[in-house]
Amino acid sequence: KKVLIVNGPNLNMLGIREKSVYGAETLQDIAQKVSDEAKILGMDFDFIQSNHEGEIIDKIHDARGKYDTIIINPGAYTHYSYAIRDAVKAVEIPTIEIHLSNIHGREEFRSKSVIAPVCVGQICGFGSKSYILAMHAAKMQD
Ligand code: DQA
Repeated sequence: KKVLIVNGPNLNMLGIREKSVYGAETLQDIAQKVSDEAKILGMDFDFIQSNHEGEIIDKIHDARGKYDTIIINPGAYTHYSYAIRDAVKAVEIPTIEIHLSNIHGREEFRSKSVIAPVCVGQICGFGSKSYILAMHAAKMQD
């Protein structure tokens, strides 16, 4: 099983940004945790980050034929990017939406995801463990 993990805008700032919400780990720390878990699960993955909507869309398009599952933390694009939503729908690769924070318990605007309806499901609120849980969910996909 090969998984593409896509991280959206500002996630390169983890470890610096709003630590009380997102924790002290950097994105690189999270990638290392995912790597350790992937070894245990016998899974292969690529881990990318972009602050640019179009680049995220290009990466989703390029995933066709290369990956069995996409795990995506779209950052703030979660709440308004119909373009990323359409890209996920277009490629027909089972996609799992994840968030570090519980987006349903924060500001009103965060509780709506325009991407979740085209995903298999959403995992949020578990900090970096949201990534690990998503790896397990990807492994369990048929
Ligand atoms: C986030 C939640 C989003 O609302 C926010 O814009 C982020 C991070 C999360 O992982 O909790 O950038 O996706």
